[in-house]
Amino acid sequence: MNSQLLMRRTFDLAMRGRGFNKTNPIVGALLADQRGRVRSEGFYRRFGGPHAEVDCLAEIMDVSPMEHLYVSLEPCNIVAKTPPCSQLILEKKIKHLHVACVDSNPDIAGSSLRYLQQAGIEVESNVEGKTGQGMHRQFFVNTTHKRPYIILKWAESKDGFVGRSGERTKLSNWASDILVHRWRAESDAILVGTNTALVDNPQLNVRHYFGANPTRIVLDRSGLIPRDSRALQGTQQTYLLGKEDTTITAEHLSSIKYDDTTPLTSILTSLYQKDVGSILVEGGPTVHQYLYENNYWDEIRIIRSPILLDDGIPSIKPVQPIGEKLCLLNDEAVCIFRETSAAT
Ligand SMILES: NC(=O)c1ccc[n+]([C@@H]2O[C@H](COP(=O)([O-])OP(=O)(O)OC[C@H]3O[C@@H](n4cnc5c(N)ncnc54)[C@H](OP(=O)(O)O)[C@@H]3O)[C@@H](O)[C@H]2O)c1
Repeated sequence: MNSQLLMRRTFDLAMRGRGFNKTNPIVGALLADQRGRVRSEGFYRRFGGPHAEVDCLAEIMDVSPMEHLYVSLEPCNIVAKTPPCSQLILEKKIKHLHVACVDSNPDIAGSSLRYLQQAGIEVESNVEGKTGQGMHRQFFVNTTHKRPYIILKWAESKDGFVGRSGERTKLSNWASDILVHRWRAESDAILVGTNTALVDNPQLNVRHYFGANPTRIVLDRSGLIPRDSRALQGTQQTYLLGKEDTTITAEHLSSIKYDDTTPLTSILTSLYQKDVGSILVEGGPTVHQYLYENNYWDEIRIIRSPILLDDGIPSIKPVQPIGEKLCLLNDEAVCIFRETSAAT
């Protein structure tokens, strides 16, 4: 039986829940026999819904002692929104459990695996552990730092500019636009700085991919953004960060007090309590630089265009090495990951 291959399949399953998980982890699970034939599969489909193990085992009544359960993350053993999965594993008489990585949540942190081992279950951990760690990065940041996972994202010209001064400059091609809208759909919130909201007048919604619109976060400390800006229109939940505005009546729009006395990072951290598990920060460079310098970021995603601008607003220049690259016709998407002390 190829444990690595089966675990990689749980990663594929887990990815199907991305964008619906909020502050909970994306998790995949499968049940296979000793020859590696998959009998059942499941994943964490939506925030507050059944866990991947429950989704996988719900209709299985008779687990054979020769069958193996694969889960991309250590099963929970606490009563949260749903009963503990460790109990389900015992009830279903699973004899062999394989996990990719330990849950970084301090309330679990390996205790569930120890509990199941003591109950006589053969446990193998760290199967495809490095990939599993990467896949659960957001959850590890959420549980360790109690703040949203922060992704800095921009498009830049071949000569390193994000646009011409004072005008909206289109740099990415249609393939990149689809990917960016997928990133939006996978994020709980999307943030823009004041100048970006004023110059680009963006809608900040999901149009070129399927999935829910993220919550919009618009910075307006100086009260410059007109109320008819596209980023404040429609029914998409929107937080306007600036002077407290008691005149706002639109149901989708709320104002959060933001002035020189409160750092932006504190406000973003507080949004974790409102189930914001990830924020895609779409610029501009002034906001990116602030978050980058304050080490308040986890990932950087850059769309590199072949267009030359010769002059304009420079993008920020991260010093960390590129982790991943993807070709998008004549554009290129590159990803940089901040080193984290993830659980093993
Ligand atoms: N190519 C791309 O991907 C891309 C993406 C986005 C934007 N852009 C372009 O970038 C330009 C705008 O970028 P920008 O750098 O000038 O402005 P920006 O980052 O959009 O906004 C900066 C402004 O946001 C406010 N702000 C509030 N809190 C802040 C904080 N903690 N840190 C930093 N700023 C904070 C400040 O105004 P107050 O002092 O008034 O509060 C600041 O001047 C536009 O031309 C736009 O077209 C390109």
